[in-house]
Amino acid sequence: MTDLTEDPLYRDPDLAQFYDLTNQWWVDFDYCTSLASNAASVLDLGCGTGELAVALAQGRRVIGVDPAAAMLEVGRNRPGGDKVTWVQADARTVRLDERFDLVLLTGHVFQVFLTQEDQKAALATIATHLNPNGRFIFDSRNPRLRTWEGRNRHNSLHQLEHPQLGTIEAWNEPTYDEATNILTYENGYRVLATGQAFSASAQIRYTSQEELAASIAASELVVETWLGSWEGDPFYPEAKEIIPIGRLA
Ligand SMILES: C[S@@+](CC[C@H](N)C(=O)[O-])C[C@H]1O[C@@H](n2cnc3c(N)ncnc32)[C@H](O)[C@@H]1O
Repeated sequence: MTDLTEDPLYRDPDLAQFYDLTNQWWVDFDYCTSLASNAASVLDLGCGTGELAVALAQGRRVIGVDPAAAMLEVGRNRPGGDKVTWVQADARTVRLDERFDLVLLTGHVFQVFLTQEDQKAALATIATHLNPNGRFIFDSRNPRLRTWEGRNRHNSLHQLEHPQLGTIEAWNEPTYDEATNILTYENGYRVLATGQAFSASAQIRYTSQEELAASIAASELVVETWLGSWEGDPFYPEAKEIIPIGRLA
């Protein structure tokens, strides 16, 4: 099993504080909120800073799992954070001795699993925690779009507003390995007022829909619907996202 929990992008409190600034377009948020409407319990694997977990915890039991203490700390401290049960653990190995009506991974968490073995372990965790009538959902970016091509430090440079630090300059530089389908990317941030700079590299794996379908078919799960976007469009070969929704086989 590969070691993912050391990824400084999420582990370092200095970097975790930038996560919510760079991820403000929550289309997955709306879809998952609607999917959870009939769920009495939700397991959010790789919950990060917990914005979705906290929103879903209004009126239902929600457990948020993430290996990064710095991300969980942001979640715990947000308004409503006390309504979520936060568990510091790895989605590949966590066993909670409890089943849920909805198990979800949003924000492309599934892509942090860098090998088929890791993906298989994550699928087993989903299956172990699903109620007989429960549903799972997760997202993975479609490698066919090759969205990393042409992106570099210079053309990805943009500005963000941090509530305490003021204007931040942010950039992202990817390198794709065709042999492993692993994208290594470096995220950089610079506080304009002080010149203070932070950067860290992270890795994610791109999996084709065909490979993902085969992995799920080999697990204890079955897919009922494949979406191609969080707006709810069906999957097609050039779709932006690969989003399986399913249940126990
Ligand atoms: C891009 S963030 C997504 C967070 C959140 N789900 C969202 O939608 O904003 C990826 C998250 O995956 C977490 N992560 C990394 N390795 C993990 C693992 N093995 N198990 C569970 N989560 C993991 C990271 O700590 C980080 O919080």
